[in-house]
Amino acid sequence: MTENANEKTLKYRAKAVNSHDFNSPVFFDRYAVLDVNPYASAFAYGRKKLYEKMNRIIDDRLDGKGDVLEAACGTGYYIKVLRANGYNVTGVEPADGMRERAQKKNPKTEIKNGVISALPFPDNTFDAVTSIELFRYLEAADIKQGYAEILRVLKPGGFAVVTLVNRYALDGFLFSYYFKLMLEKYFGKPIINYCDAVSPSETEKYFKDNFNVVASTESAMFAPLRIIYKLYPKLGEWCAKRLESFDEKLNQTDWHKKFAGHLIVVIEKKADAKENTNTAPVRHI
Ligand SMILES: C[S@@+](CC[C@H](N)C(=O)[O-])C[C@H]1O[C@@H](n2cnc3c(N)ncnc32)[C@H](O)[C@@H]1O
Repeated sequence: MTENANEKTLKYRAKAVNSHDFNSPVFFDRYAVLDVNPYASAFAYGRKKLYEKMNRIIDDRLDGKGDVLEAACGTGYYIKVLRANGYNVTGVEPADGMRERAQKKNPKTEIKNGVISALPFPDNTFDAVTSIELFRYLEAADIKQGYAEILRVLKPGGFAVVTLVNRYALDGFLFSYYFKLMLEKYFGKPIINYCDAVSPSETEKYFKDNFNVVASTESAMFAPLRIIYKLYPKLGEWCAKRLESFDEKLNQTDWHKKFAGHLIVVIEKKADAKENTNTAPVRHI
């Protein structure tokens, strides 16, 4: 049966929320590893590299002052980091298991229940919005609506930092994803989550074409490390430690962006933006 776009959007969204609700204890444990040894797993090392870059991007602009929304905050790890860096942080997260853990970790922070396509905040509220590993799970209509919502809640001159799946990452992640998609299509083996993957140049163009705003991209993590971690975690740790300075240098080169393990996008809301000037209408779900 061919689904219409709306059904597909809702199906992707439901999978993204339900799978994370179910896996919230797993996520919590993954972060516990990060506190003990950030080189212990591909997940921990990837997050370490993401946070270093995101913290630098945010601190360069806000210098520890301002209101930040952490969207799809999961179990609240990055909320804690942002708070420690001086920001007044609010969270939003639709999966109960994730949100409850985030609230426990950050008892004084307001963490609302909500999806990115209908953020429960007024226009022009935040200096910055962050969102780590959310958009990859969503269908095109939700992705567009989610970005429109981020731009709506940002103050004029504010910015967002989001992470996306890099289509040409050298870990071959997309091959295994396409294989899983094939199993779903031909053998009825349901896929846990769908995945949207993009390239740096098409992302920059996407924001110009759809929202008439500037977006720039950065990369993090030497992607083949993920394969080494998968084959033999201790070797992954050893390589990550030894390759870290090389990793840093590589990620400062423009050509490597396309092949890195993580893609980071910085989206700028115009300083003279009028309220609700985004192309997509806000749809409350
Ligand atoms: C891979 S986890 C990342 C969590 C957190 N940002 C982190 O880095 O650990 C994706 C998160 O997105 C949340 N999520 C899924 N669909 C969402 C939606 N439509 N709107 C907002 N958040 C969503 C999930 O519940 C989950 O917490």
